[in-house]
Amino acid sequence: MSEKAFVTTPIYYVNDVPHIGHAYTTIIADTMARYYRLKGYDTFFLTGTDEHGQKIEEAALSRGRTPQEYADEISGKFKELWDEFEISYDKFIRTTDIEHKVGVQKAFKTMFDSGDIYKGEYEGHYCVSCETFFTDTQLIDENLCPDCGKETRIVKEESYFFKLSNYQEKLLKWYSDDEKCVLPKGKKSEVISFVKHGLRDLSITRTSFDWGVKLPSDMNDDKHVMYVWLDALLNYITALGYGNDEKNMKYWPASVQLVGKDILRFHAIYWPAFLMSLGLPLPKHVAAHGWWTRNGEKMSKSKGNVVNPKEVADAYGLENFRYFMLREVPFGQDGDFSQKALVDRINSDLSNELGNLLNRIIGMSGKYSDFSISSKNVLDYHKKELASVMEHIKISETNLNDLQTNRYLEELWRALTIANQSITIYEPWVKMKNNNKDFAFATVAMVANILARVSILLHPVMPKTTQKIASAMNFDINYESYRRFIEDGELLDDFIIQKVPPLFPKIEAELLLTPAPSIKKLETKKEEKKQEDSLITIDQFFETKLKIATVMEAQEVPKSKKLLKLQVDLGEGKPRQIVAGIKEYYTPESLVNTQICVVANLKPAKIMGLVSEGMLLAAKDSEGLSLMRPEKQKQNGSSVG
Ligand code: MSP
Repeated sequence: MSEKAFVTTPIYYVNDVPHIGHAYTTIIADTMARYYRLKGYDTFFLTGTDEHGQKIEEAALSRGRTPQEYADEISGKFKELWDEFEISYDKFIRTTDIEHKVGVQKAFKTMFDSGDIYKGEYEGHYCVSCETFFTDTQLIDENLCPDCGKETRIVKEESYFFKLSNYQEKLLKWYSDDEKCVLPKGKKSEVISFVKHGLRDLSITRTSFDWGVKLPSDMNDDKHVMYVWLDALLNYITALGYGNDEKNMKYWPASVQLVGKDILRFHAIYWPAFLMSLGLPLPKHVAAHGWWTRNGEKMSKSKGNVVNPKEVADAYGLENFRYFMLREVPFGQDGDFSQKALVDRINSDLSNELGNLLNRIIGMSGKYSDFSISSKNVLDYHKKELASVMEHIKISETNLNDLQTNRYLEELWRALTIANQSITIYEPWVKMKNNNKDFAFATVAMVANILARVSILLHPVMPKTTQKIASAMNFDINYESYRRFIEDGELLDDFIIQKVPPLFPKIEAELLLTPAPSIKKLETKKEEKKQEDSLITIDQFFETKLKIATVMEAQEVPKSKKLLKLQVDLGEGKPRQIVAGIKEYYTPESLVNTQICVVANLKPAKIMGLVSEGMLLAAKDSEGLSLMRPEKQKQNGSSVG
């Protein structure tokens, strides 16, 4: 039976379209999955989207969409990009998938039955943007999130807790028993020191909103939904059928779980604790990469400095971009995205050192032997070079297994340097003139063998380009060639080399407008457009149906500082419910039997779990808020306009 491999990316939040950071995680994971397949492992590669939680609910509502509609759209964008990028995933999971929800409920019940979950009350700070709870001492300036700097909210609600505190010692033991369970080393030390400071039990349900997985029905507590991180982390096993058809659970434990450094704590502390509670084995490697920045700054929509991976891949070539991302930054460290660095990598590493080597082999063999290449004398003349190439190949694989992607590629390039230097040192053209043809042929063949080995190991990063190189040399890249030329160190069969058009044409200038001017241009255009767009036609105005209504009932929304729940009569025969943020300005009693003005054709939306079927009109200034009302009593349902 062949060895198994399971590779995962984090599942991406659907509050944002994919950017270069998401592409980075996915490309590393894809490289690992392709590497395992190359080695003949039975491989399963998982990616997907994280669709529940307050952040997504709020993002959807602010756009007038239901969370499900909004999640469908953004999840589709991730899938589309990964398909365009030929990401070789075996499953794309969505946390709104029914099988996932069933699996999460089963896990919750199992953890509850094993005594790891209890009911209590949570009171503390919550950052919606990071979907994370914080203690007072963790906050910056008393209420700012230590991770993203945004304001936290005070949450006080009934909650189920996971006994994370019980797992402190077990986690520390895991870190010390398994040297490579968290990679790279530096990040592992940070995790250990965090755990050593003590772990508090984790609030794992919420009651103040309902866009999430409900508790198992036999727990009879349906006001709770699961905390989004519990729901999300469990995707790694529900995707394999946990709680449903479990045949793919044979892939668990994961070989590599790729994450960004910002979410390492969830994956290296909470996740293994949940797994221990479920009685499941722990992942072999949780590997955390650093962040991509732009001119040293964090990328964000508001700064307008986000790099679009599709634009970069379209301009420079998808595989060149993959190579660049993996080669440019030491794994675990942050890297700054620069087109200049990308152009340099393409021109120097790819064009000069890799592409040119193939051209030199084609050129020399064409001149000396009518394009035929034979390995028969290689070991007589070049044993030493080949041995040293095999050393680099070995180190390269070790580095890749440790997720040191840049070092893995550096080692392959060291092997290419041996090939390129051998041509300069042994001068086959001089040997040809001096009638030492065997030596010249052996040098050309040795160089071809080096290129073949490098191409096989580079295949996971540049699948199409390396296959082109291999086809020119009359072999395919697959498990068979990996076994023969990498594991067993065999030499290539005799072959006739095919001419190929240049693989990496040199790039003279940066191909994308530099973000600064292009963003500026875009901003100016947006501004001009905004001014044009700010004028509307009368028809556009009447698209909004404004109507007079009478407030029949008004109540406070429990646990909300701002919201009131109103039943209003719009002359429609039955009242409508409107949830409005006016509690700070009006008491419920003062509203009953007064008239208000309502936007009547707004799509219904859920606010704190309550359906709202319209919006009130009000004016707000520094002195407060007042509702817009008709000067004289009007019939309910009369149009305003
Ligand atoms: N939904 C959670 C993960 C749940 S996994 C059970 C989440 N999603 S995310 O969309 O915000 O981030 C997903 C990944 O993208 C993370 O690994 C994060 O580190 C990575 N990146 C987001 N921005 C990034 C950069 N600018 N640079 C590199 N990667 C970054 O967190």
